[in-house]
Amino acid sequence: MIFDSVQAGRTVIGLDVGTSRVVAIRETGGQRVTRSELNAFLALPWSGMTEASLRRESIPYLVQDGEILVIGNESARLADLLGREVRRPMTRGMLNPEEPESLALIRAILRTVLEPETTAGAKVRFSVPSPPLNGESSLTFHEASLRQILEDLGYPDSAGVNEGVAVVYSELFESNYTGIGISCGGGLCNAALAYLSVPAVCFSIPKAGDFIDSSAAAVAGEMVTRARLVKEQSFHFNGNYPDKLQQALAVYYDDVIQTISAGLRVALQGCRSLPRFGRSLPLVLSGGGVLPEGFRERFEKTLAQAQLPVAISEIRLARRPLEATAEGALAAALSE
Ligand SMILES: Nc1ncnc2c1ncn2[C@@H]1O[C@H](COP(=O)(O)OP(=O)(O)OP(=O)(O)O)[C@@H](O)[C@H]1O
Ligand SMILES: [Mg+2]
Repeated sequence: MIFDSVQAGRTVIGLDVGTSRVVAIRETGGQRVTRSELNAFLALPWSGMTEASLRRESIPYLVQDGEILVIGNESARLADLLGREVRRPMTRGMLNPEEPESLALIRAILRTVLEPETTAGAKVRFSVPSPPLNGESSLTFHEASLRQILEDLGYPDSAGVNEGVAVVYSELFESNYTGIGISCGGGLCNAALAYLSVPAVCFSIPKAGDFIDSSAAAVAGEMVTRARLVKEQSFHFNGNYPDKLQQALAVYYDDVIQTISAGLRVALQGCRSLPRFGRSLPLVLSGGGVLPEGFRERFEKTLAQAQLPVAISEIRLARRPLEATAEGALAAALSE
């Protein structure tokens, strides 16, 4: 026990609380451990036998109002088996203040990826999205709720790090944390421009993976889960799509890419204090949304037409697109 608390005192954690997945990377004495769970759950009718089976397999769950809520990665496997859709505690990057039960769910998921039995007391830096380009958001509720839950779990030293800025921290060390970081997630796309690590412009757009899945599914007359699976397993940009669903995925992917490009132009033009860069800026793409083959090239082509007020030196993918946000949050924690 003494060993654990001494260890935890030296542990720092970068946490990505995403709409679709929660990723925690912890570092102790130069060693890193990464844990990731789907930010989702599936309700089953309560039975003692089901509960005992879940416990024996160490599958995270909650019991609530006569139901068992299976949480994390296993919820998707079960949903698939039963032909159902998983539900989510977050939408568009944030906890929903109208759904108080989402707090208990996110708490259970955080407990699973953080493992407070061995890491309580560690410093935690967690990702928070940017407000949308033109609109309101419940960001204060979201961030305050996460800090409260982390404190309850044994992490009094926690703070939020902007998601786009986290991508810059994770990927743009070589350009001295100067450039543009973009994360294409499930609920949102987040973008940030930083100059010598100082955020100059941050915004989000409310179109991302979930939007692509539900729009393409509606047009092609398919289930949303199926659209997501096809997108993740076989979709790529080659201008030659075998069926209606893949064609619809391409259409809505293009819509997202165009919305990010237009958003970047508007946000950068609207930034009067935009420093006069003496050099062009690198741009890094991260998040699960950038994984289909050909995404980078498609993005580059669209952005070239957007006529940004700053020059872009290169557009590249993050080293590990699904972990860049958590790695950036960890970098922030380590640098303090
Ligand atoms: N191999 C893949 N190919 C295409 N898309 C993928 C792949 N893997 C995951 N995705 C998509 O990436 C999205 C999730 O990305 P990510 O995990 O970065 O989001 P998040 O951080 O949880 O969400 P957000 O940042 O919006 O809150 C989902 O839409 C998912 O379908
Ligand atoms: Mg994300």
